[in-house]
Amino acid sequence: MAKAIVIYETVYGYTETMANAIVKGLKDAGVDVILKKAIATNAEELKDFDAVVLGCPTYHHDMVTTIKTLLFKMKDAGLKGKVGAAFGAYGFSGEAVDMIHDTMKHIFEMDMIEPGLKMKGTEIATGEEVCEDFGRKIAERILK
Ligand SMILES: Cc1cc2nc3c(=O)[nH]c(=O)nc-3n(C[C@H](O)[C@H](O)[C@H](O)COP(=O)(O)O)c2cc1C
Repeated sequence: MAKAIVIYETVYGYTETMANAIVKGLKDAGVDVILKKAIATNAEELKDFDAVVLGCPTYHHDMVTTIKTLLFKMKDAGLKGKVGAAFGAYGFSGEAVDMIHDTMKHIFEMDMIEPGLKMKGTEIATGEEVCEDFGRKIAERILK
């Protein structure tokens, strides 16, 4: 069975809501999914998955420290060619998603879902279907 891991960080829960809906979309499409916070994730375990999905909100025009630290550890995790995707909640600028997406694409040479999924906190309450669709899109790429 195809396997995906969704790793996220959140402060107020918005990116977590996105993560849960993305997991639902992946599962509905027949993918076996693990959901983890960044702090609990070991970069070495990522090689066992067909897709690695990273979620991070934007604070102070940046990603949060736990995700930044994980990205450094992911450099030698053997991710080249694996399916990747980035998502996250934002308020007005949303740089974290693009930064993570670009690192996964250009440094790790992953097969990225374009574009990453950014949603304003105010959109998320009614926008879980958009996240589920993103999960299904990731699943289609793994399963094709
Ligand atoms: C102190 C602070 C700084 C923030 N800085 C940014 C920012 O630079 N750019 C942006 O798009 N949103 C910014 N936001 C908004 C958050 O990204 C937004 O509230 C998001 O939904 C939080 O997601 P989370 O609940 O997953 O942590 C900031 C929010 C706070 C409280």
